[in-house]
Amino acid sequence: MRRAMAEAEVGDDLWLEDPTTRRLEAAVAERFGREAALFVPSGTMGNQICLRLAARPGTVCLAHEDNHILWHEAGAPARLSGIQLHTLPGPRGQLDPDQVRARVRSAEYGVPTSALAVEQTHNRGGGAVWPFETLAALRAVASEGGLRLHCDGARIWNAHVAAGVPLERYGALFDSLSVCFSKGLAAPVGSAVVGDRELVERARGERQLLGGGMRQSGVLAAAALVALEQMVDRLAEDHANARRTAETVAAAVPGSVDPAEVETNMVVLEAGAFDTDGPGLGKRLGDLGVLAAAQSPDRVRLVFHYEVSADDADVAARAVLAAAG
Ligand SMILES: Cc1ncc(COP(=O)(O)O)c(C=O)c1O
Repeated sequence: MRRAMAEAEVGDDLWLEDPTTRRLEAAVAERFGREAALFVPSGTMGNQICLRLAARPGTVCLAHEDNHILWHEAGAPARLSGIQLHTLPGPRGQLDPDQVRARVRSAEYGVPTSALAVEQTHNRGGGAVWPFETLAALRAVASEGGLRLHCDGARIWNAHVAAGVPLERYGALFDSLSVCFSKGLAAPVGSAVVGDRELVERARGERQLLGGGMRQSGVLAAAALVALEQMVDRLAEDHANARRTAETVAAAVPGSVDPAEVETNMVVLEAGAFDTDGPGLGKRLGDLGVLAAAQSPDRVRLVFHYEVSADDADVAARAVLAAAG
């Protein structure tokens, strides 16, 4: 990636003159079977641009209560875009299409619902993969209710690899997607908004409004191209490492993790099984050389990625067992 960045051919992207950025955008659009894509600096900006385009100010966007857009984006839907998020519960970040349908409101009865946002894979859901059929059912609910459907696809690559669902099948479901190169795909920076040409041209204007227009962005797009072309299929290794670690830990520490819930590159540990809380377990692991953060007062999230080899994963599993005392 560093070499690709150093050698990238660049131009001024605000003038649409950066050939590497254009190449990346075309490649991403093609992967999802969509007309266009726009390179943006972060997943947060990608989501917020899409939400602005999906929901008018003073309307509701429905979302799972644990979605990243609610927990980790600084309250942006309300602060930047006047969007009211209405949350719904569900196991591991997933929604029941019938419950969503029942919550869609028309203006006649109150603040109208204009959008629906999902997250694939689900971060706070422990990297859970939405079944394609459930997403398709939500697409039908959105279409029936005249809602825009947005996908926070920061880790949609992991879902694609774990479930074997082609990216273009996901691409066909959503009005907009935000996808990240900077998570499991290991690029230093960058995400993309994906959709039809008109949405992407409007997204370009919103990116400018949010201060995300870039000049010689090809330096970054070059790394994202390596991510897209070389880092997707290998995610299966991260998934195998996560699963193996979970199995080792589950066998030794009852109640710590259910390996059946490890679908992608995350393992969420129940700190109570280690007789401590989330921050306490995070600290113990840190002292043993494993960097893992508390996701909540009672849980710690382990994330497996390119720089964690199979041997490293075994070292991490042994450290987790040591943390159990
Ligand atoms: C599901 C999800 N969406 C969006 C983001 C935001 O990405 P960024 O950190 O690039 O803003 C993250 C970051 O971890 C994420 O996990």
